[in-house]
Amino acid sequence: MTVNEWNPEEYDRAFSYVSSFGGSVLELLDPKPGEKILDLGCGSGELAAEMLEKGVDVSAVDADEHMIAKARQRLGDRAFVADGHAFRLDEPVDAVFSNAALHWMTEPEKVVANVRASLRDGGRFVGEMGGKRNIGVIAQAVRQAVAEVGGESGYHFPWYFPSPAEYTAVLEAQGLRPASVFYFPRLTPLDPEEGVRGWVRMFGDSLVAGVPQDSLDAVLDRVEELCRDRLFSGGRWHADYWRLRFEAVVE
Ligand code: BEZ
Repeated sequence: MTVNEWNPEEYDRAFSYVSSFGGSVLELLDPKPGEKILDLGCGSGELAAEMLEKGVDVSAVDADEHMIAKARQRLGDRAFVADGHAFRLDEPVDAVFSNAALHWMTEPEKVVANVRASLRDGGRFVGEMGGKRNIGVIAQAVRQAVAEVGGESGYHFPWYFPSPAEYTAVLEAQGLRPASVFYFPRLTPLDPEEGVRGWVRMFGDSLVAGVPQDSLDAVLDRVEELCRDRLFSGGRWHADYWRLRFEAVVE
């Protein structure tokens, strides 16, 4: 399986919308000073740092060591490398928070079981992730472009985008009661210089893994052509995100 190569500097520069949109899910979390909160899949640590500034006793984990190196510049040793499928905390927390990370964790039962084990009685799990149909237009265009230009081999879909019903069932099976679940489209403007090809380069390594290096530009050109009608408007490229945002509490 191909693992995405993360570049935290590039991520903060051209993909900062990931954290800015995280502001609304942070509002749903409504963190209070003194609360112990784990940020699961913290990326470069921007939202965790915001919580820290508000007086939250935050800790933050991410499976990628480059992201954690960047997060440590913001959070010191509150940030550490851990995989959502296999982590344990020394002490229970009041809340687990996650923004735009859970869809990278493809065994959700394991992840939610670990979240449940990390929460104190009455604790809450608040998150936002890609839901069913997320980046459907981009993914289909890449699949077609790879087949046309670079051959089918290597196309690997590395994400978990559940419907509200599917994710509700996962939460409930692990003893977490969904208190609210929102599912909505969010056509997200992309960085003007990066556009949809920059998105594929940053996040879609696995989708183009089987494409020979000298065919990659041709694949990306074709992806642009295929997506243009639906994702280029007002002089700007967009990603066809669908969000699943939820709050669940320990039963
Ligand atoms: C998302 O936030 O929905 C997303 C980001 C990168 C890859 C796939 C999905």
